[in-house]
Amino acid sequence: MKAVVVYYSQSCGNTRKIAEMIGLTNGADLAEIQTVSDYGDDYNAVMAKARDEINSGYIPELKPLSVNLDDYDTVIIGTPTWWYTMAPAVRAFLRNTDLTGKRVYAFQTHGGQPGSALKDIRLLSKGENIGDFAVEFDSEGGSRMLTSLDDLRAWIGDIR
Ligand SMILES: Cc1cc2nc3c(=O)[nH]c(=O)nc-3n(C[C@H](O)[C@H](O)[C@H](O)COP(=O)(O)O)c2cc1C
Repeated sequence: MKAVVVYYSQSCGNTRKIAEMIGLTNGADLAEIQTVSDYGDDYNAVMAKARDEINSGYIPELKPLSVNLDDYDTVIIGTPTWWYTMAPAVRAFLRNTDLTGKRVYAFQTHGGQPGSALKDIRLLSKGENIGDFAVEFDSEGGSRMLTSLDDLRAWIGDIR
């Protein structure tokens, strides 16, 4: 099995930390989704911009990914929850990428209101979807994990 975690992480690095944990645990490579235009550091401004983008269906331009997905059988997609769905950068990745024939896992990080992010990823990704996981943090913008570490480890341990 050759696996890669393709993730987007913007505010406090929660999604990156989970991606790194998957990489450390099962040897998956990591590839960060990055937008060409930065969202900046002002949390409220990011919230407002994200709401406008999601409401209008805006698809941001992405920087090239650091890996060639042809090299991988398993793709694990990670997104922060933005306005109850995936971040627009992850939507852009899924729209631009054909995952047909790959095993696809997905995880979201969120602050208590997971919404439909995982379901939305499932609808857009065309690979064989195997397993999803939601990781809760202590509040919107918080970085203390509330989800059980044992549950997270068990989900990671099942990735093939
Ligand atoms: C623009 C924006 C929208 C958010 N919307 C939600 C939401 O709908 N539900 C929720 O539980 N958390 C929401 N959050 C909190 C993030 O999902 C949470 O802090 C996540 O772990 C951040 O991941 P990151 O540090 O990798 O960017 C939002 C955060 C931002 C910046």
